[in-house]
Amino acid sequence: MGTGRHPDYVSGVKETAIRASASGKVILLGEHAVVYGRPAIAIPLSGLRATATLIPHLGPFHIQAPAVGINAPLSELPPNHPLARIVYLTTEHIRRPPPDALLRIGSDIPVASGLGSGAAVSAAIVRVLLAWYSVPLDSPTISALVYEVERIYHGTPSGIDNTVIAYEQPIYFVRGRPPEPLPVGTALHLLVADSGIPSQTREVVGDVQRQWEAEPARYERLFDRVAEEVEEARRAIARGDVRALGKRMSANHELLREIGVSAPVLDHLVETARRVGALGAKLSGAGRGGNIVALVEESTASAVEEALQAAGAVRVWRTRIGEPTNHRNSEPSLIP
Ligand code: MEV
Repeated sequence: MGTGRHPDYVSGVKETAIRASASGKVILLGEHAVVYGRPAIAIPLSGLRATATLIPHLGPFHIQAPAVGINAPLSELPPNHPLARIVYLTTEHIRRPPPDALLRIGSDIPVASGLGSGAAVSAAIVRVLLAWYSVPLDSPTISALVYEVERIYHGTPSGIDNTVIAYEQPIYFVRGRPPEPLPVGTALHLLVADSGIPSQTREVVGDVQRQWEAEPARYERLFDRVAEEVEEARRAIARGDVRALGKRMSANHELLREIGVSAPVLDHLVETARRVGALGAKLSGAGRGGNIVALVEESTASAVEEALQAAGAVRVWRTRIGEPTNHRNSEPSLIP
């Protein structure tokens, strides 16, 4: 699988400044069950990006991340701070020191919303450090480095977030295996709606684990049913059957409710989307808050978007995946 290079992927000249970026992501089907070895489908959100800029300066490596209130030399951050950790992991991996430079982080991916903001920041940092030292970019390596930091955020991540963000392509993913590209038979129009309620992946994944430990047989059956929906959805995506895909997404939402990770606000957004014409809708990511994703026809996208806003969504993004034979168009792009 290629790197899914975005025009904004790496830019600039080392002598001045170098900038790299990484996309957000949405899980289309299979979250939570993917932690337990079942398959899942995820897509990058190429229009929502985190950026990392390295600016040469006289002095030791310094990190500025205004959104999280950080403006400090690397040496003053705890080594396990996610921003410090990814710098150390990357520079150790390529056997170079953190350069004499200022690292400035920016992101338009909302945090704690299930859209992969932490993984995207990490991936952008890996990319900019590799670019600084002219080390070739390699998606499996980027993914593996980002995974190490995801473990700080999430405890027991499946690896799907770092993988879809590092490869920046729609993927079919099973934990511990290389991702498989996702053949897309027809363009898919999606709306991603933010409930505005934070979603704490670590806590929700921990709760599911406790429930699975208490009722293993029931949870294994639920995860198996999620896997069936994912497999059916994968086939529907390949043959361009948007109606079948919509049904699978909605069925996946019902299973996520049974797993115990939905919330009234998410159910309300999902029901609203379906009522006004979405082909299917479900929560996306860890749940309890964060986002829902709705599959729509191009002709109904605006009506569904307006209804989601009226129902309380604080932001709605549109994205599209797929054209059968055109690779460039198979990357999603956000339509403002
Ligand atoms: C989080 O984006 C997806 C989860 O399935 C957790 C994971 O896969 O690590 C909830």
